[in-house]
Amino acid sequence: MSRQSRRRKQSARNEITFQVEERKPTRAFVIHPDIIGQAPAPERDMPAPSPTSRSPRRRLEEALSLAAAIDLEIVGHAIAPVRKVAPATLFGPGKVEELAADIAAADAELVIVNSHLSPGQQRNLEKAWNAKVIDRTGLILEIFGRRASTKEGRLQVELAHLEYQRTRLVRSWTHLERQRGGAGFMGGPGETQLEIDRRILKDRIARIRRQLEDVKRTRELHRKTRRKTPWPIVALAGYTNTGKSTLFNRLTKARVLAKDQLFATLDPTMRLIRLPSGREVVLSDTVGFISDLPTALVAAFRATLEEVVEADLILHVRDMRDPEEAGAQAEDVKKVLSELGICEEKPVIEVWNKADLWSAEQRRALRARAARRDDVAVTSAITGEGLEELRALVAERLASKAAVRKLRLTHAEGEHLAWCYRHTEVLSRADDEEGITLTLRLPPAALSRAEKRFGARLRRETAADESARLAAE
Ligand code: GTP
Repeated sequence: MSRQSRRRKQSARNEITFQVEERKPTRAFVIHPDIIGQAPAPERDMPAPSPTSRSPRRRLEEALSLAAAIDLEIVGHAIAPVRKVAPATLFGPGKVEELAADIAAADAELVIVNSHLSPGQQRNLEKAWNAKVIDRTGLILEIFGRRASTKEGRLQVELAHLEYQRTRLVRSWTHLERQRGGAGFMGGPGETQLEIDRRILKDRIARIRRQLEDVKRTRELHRKTRRKTPWPIVALAGYTNTGKSTLFNRLTKARVLAKDQLFATLDPTMRLIRLPSGREVVLSDTVGFISDLPTALVAAFRATLEEVVEADLILHVRDMRDPEEAGAQAEDVKKVLSELGICEEKPVIEVWNKADLWSAEQRRALRARAARRDDVAVTSAITGEGLEELRALVAERLASKAAVRKLRLTHAEGEHLAWCYRHTEVLSRADDEEGITLTLRLPPAALSRAEKRFGARLRRETAADESARLAAE
């Protein structure tokens, strides 16, 4: 994804979440500890190691792309084998020293260790490396913080962030520093900075929990309001780095609609696009899935996925270059979607992206596989390959899900007529002296509302109506 579009995403997020000031990107060094011998001491918020075969290199690549997602400047990276976990520093003393030299040579201010670190390990490594250190949870929290778009999402992320900080005070890379700097908190007499921080955190956690309760109570209401948008929602979902945002930009850039301003300002990750059928839909970009998500972050992650729950159609974007990795990722995505209560019937189109990077052999094999399915689009968000086919497939999928109904209105029923134009796709309209006959295409939510509004006046097409319409289409 281009730096500019990444910025666009971020600047909007920053306003809502942590209010980070514009500054030079932090110089970061990313280390993936490849824990070979003994498994790391089980941590409360870490899941069991994933049974998938993700290689250390893939894991490092993923960590690098996560780091890039928050505009860090990557000045170095390493895979560091850990044969025996050192309780104080994770890595053995020799490795700590070796890495210290690399980190100093790269002049890194921040080191990301792509694993869980206990607060003690984190502090000891900070001392040894003379740099701020964050672990995988800290990094993912930063990303979620920037991506959460709903109120609940923001609160969930902030809660997870505060809970995480509570165990590791006296670090200052994340947002506590910003708050302290901005608000100029003063402690009571005799309070140390640490006590002040603890008190602030405790109060804020309690406040956020209360706010979350309120938000949850009104969530259903929000859902209903959201459902009232006349356009179907198409959500891009999938693993981080598969190209969702690049696709989003590419698909939305083709045509900027005036109405789009609404979305651009409300939420930069939602845009109106027009399909080849002329139909308009809302395209929604979502936060990427991440392998081995610490369980403490699951609630926060889900809260950032609300658009997917609400979507009429999901575009599951996949990077198919490494079949084993792609398979493991797809399993994770399906599992989370089903845990989110996204029912089996919700249509999903798989978007096999980055086709420009496939070898000739891969291309043959993957194209043949895709051709056997009617729910796969092969694309390259970079070259534009397959995007027209993708748009057409989206239109087809939405149309097949939508119901077609006839409605007869009198000329006096202007309000009903306006409602139809706002909430349904008007396929045909015939005006005569007594009134207007409409043929409407209605996605499921609009259908149930139309049934309430018009009752028996809304009638199914006869076979003759349908063949006349299809001939005209
Ligand atoms: P998150 O925002 O982290 O969830 O990632 P994402 O899925 O939105 O991926 P993003 O669009 O940021 O793309 C990740 C990287 O893949 C960027 O460097 C893109 O330029 C690159 N990329 C995306 N699509 C394609 C593609 O079709 N071909 C090639 N060659 N690169 C691509």
